[in-house]
Amino acid sequence: MIKDTLMQAIEAGAKELTRYFNGSFTITSKATINDLVTEADHASEKAIFKVIQDQFPDHFILSEETGAIPQASAIKWIIDPIDGTINFANGIPICCVSIGVEENGVMIMGAVYNPFMNELFFAERGKGATLNGKKIAVSDKDDLLRSCLVTGFPYQYLDTENGPLQIFEKLIRKAIPVRRLGSAALDLCWTAAGRFDGFYEHKLQAWDSAAGFLIVEEAGGKVTDLKGDAYNPYQPGIIATNGKIHDQLLALVKGGNI
Ligand code: IPD
Ligand code: CA
Ligand code: CA
Repeated sequence: MIKDTLMQAIEAGAKELTRYFNGSFTITSKATINDLVTEADHASEKAIFKVIQDQFPDHFILSEETGAIPQASAIKWIIDPIDGTINFANGIPICCVSIGVEENGVMIMGAVYNPFMNELFFAERGKGATLNGKKIAVSDKDDLLRSCLVTGFPYQYLDTENGPLQIFEKLIRKAIPVRRLGSAALDLCWTAAGRFDGFYEHKLQAWDSAAGFLIVEEAGGKVTDLKGDAYNPYQPGIIATNGKIHDQLLALVKGGNI
């Protein structure tokens, strides 16, 4: 039942992305000039809320543009109505809807859908991860120096030791390819599908990673925070890998060298 609602909700949101994409829509800035929200983000969120609230009016919702709609429920829906808004606003089809479902604080299900590539990623705890219904698995590369990585940079850059720029510099000075797609949810799913060997980012919000981190774990990967502790989406840092390069990437992010 939850899975059906999740699928209906993610499709309803994605329909709004395709409806607005490359058309005309309003764009406004949030905390900083390049932290954007478009009419499509709001439309997607509204469509998703309708599906969930019609079927489960007493469930807790946490969504990027509205914030928390608290309810005394074991189930919490964690929603990013468009992940990759800057891409969306520029007509770059690397963006998606991301919805994670948490039960008593444990992520039990997640879906990420990029309608422009017709790619629907899904995972249910203990049951594996799929792309358009077919099982996916992480890559098996075990050498960081031969890996293909992906990262993202926060809109408000924090100039800290071992921050985003320092780590990026260390990697590219070793000629390790580090891509930057602009959608953390897709970064995670593409890692789950073995396209990337690892992903790291310093400053995410729960809705960026809620679905994607479960999808990586269920595809056989490993996800931790930047200290190497068990991953919790309510803190900012993430390292998600195929498992085999995890310790090497973690050591680097913690300040080591390759
Ligand atoms: C952003 C994307 C981006 C990441 C940012 C996020 P948004 O989400 O996931 O890849 O680097 O930290 O805020 O704003 O497009 O939903
Ligand atoms: Ca996001
Ligand atoms: Ca968003």
